[in-house]
Amino acid sequence: MWGSSFSILSYPSPNFTASLLVPAATLRSGTSLPVNLHPKPYTSDTPFAPEVVKAVDSLQYEFRAVDDLVARNSAKVLKAFQNVRLGSHHFGGSTGYGHDEAGGREALDNAFAEIVGAESAIVRSQFFSGTHAITCALFALLRPGDELLAVAGAPYDTLEEVIGKRDSQGLGSLKDFGVEYREVPLAEDGGLDWEKLASALKPQTKCALIQRSCGYSWRQSLSVDEIGKAIRLIKMQNPDCLVMVDNCYGEFVETTEPPSVGADLIAGSLIKNPGGTLAPCGGYVAGRAKWVKAAAARLSAPGLGVDMGSTPGDIMRTFFQGLFLSPQMVGEAVKGMILIAEVMQSKGYKVQPLPRAPRHDTVQQSSICHFAKLLQNSKVHCHQINKKK
Ligand SMILES: Cc1ncc(COP(=O)(O)O)c(C=O)c1O
Repeated sequence: MWGSSFSILSYPSPNFTASLLVPAATLRSGTSLPVNLHPKPYTSDTPFAPEVVKAVDSLQYEFRAVDDLVARNSAKVLKAFQNVRLGSHHFGGSTGYGHDEAGGREALDNAFAEIVGAESAIVRSQFFSGTHAITCALFALLRPGDELLAVAGAPYDTLEEVIGKRDSQGLGSLKDFGVEYREVPLAEDGGLDWEKLASALKPQTKCALIQRSCGYSWRQSLSVDEIGKAIRLIKMQNPDCLVMVDNCYGEFVETTEPPSVGADLIAGSLIKNPGGTLAPCGGYVAGRAKWVKAAAARLSAPGLGVDMGSTPGDIMRTFFQGLFLSPQMVGEAVKGMILIAEVMQSKGYKVQPLPRAPRHDTVQQSSICHFAKLLQNSKVHCHQINKKK
């Protein structure tokens, strides 16, 4: 496990010194690990472009902070696995109705709930995607005559047909079932509009939807602290309003998750962060037990809930292993994004977030407005590669 947390050791850097590397190794393991005390000096045949080498050198503080994040979240996952007494018998899966499985499904649900600070969770291969898990959560919380309020501007576009913002052609959107919808647009800086949010709730607002990640929009992603502040503001106006957080791309980017700041439900995809690159499918809903149960009834059927659903083959093993690896994979992604932001910014491209800004999701945006400039740059880069050959 720790091997890959030393991944920065493989970056070619003229400035790495033994004093920088040794404490990192001893701090983490408490035992002596085979650490490369004499990294090779920078040579011109490095596979990395000089801009990348320079950026890596300037980002040591940020990379170290990511290592800390990974260690904290990995410890949290391990603790949860210990608490559910995870064993190899849990990896077996099941077929048919899924009644006869060996406790892996329940162990995974309980471990996941503990990791995200929730009362309960349902983690299943039968969730097709993030959109599907979010849909089950929304249909669990809303009934005809209720209002859904999106408080972070327009939600991710696959939700438009779910909500009925875009015509779902009578296929059963929330609007088809008589659920009203409203949005609080984002503020000019791309963050939450706190002033508007302070008076946005109506008595019929039954559910507030908060999208944690920017997704593919040029807007700010929300920190867990900001989500907590928004939840307090929502509940102050209408204590009966439930808060559902679209957690896609946010998992393990911070050390806490939205249920620990009051979210009633969160939902996301195992094909993103919490699958740790190993889960081949699936998603989750977590939060307050009553509402997780209701979301489970949307996924399966009322009365079947969490107790059915086969998981054939190797899927349970990949779910557990993926969850175990997820903090590390998220950490690697965050380091990669910081690096890309630094290099792209040094080339004059607009990036969001900025390289040294706090991270709240695994999305890095860069605006490549000047296509000609990109082509020009790539020509230079190709030319350099060709020259080296
Ligand atoms: C913020 C956000 N929410 C929801 C989704 C939908 O997830 P999926 O593509 O798994 O349905 C995405 C997808 O990228 C996303 O970025």
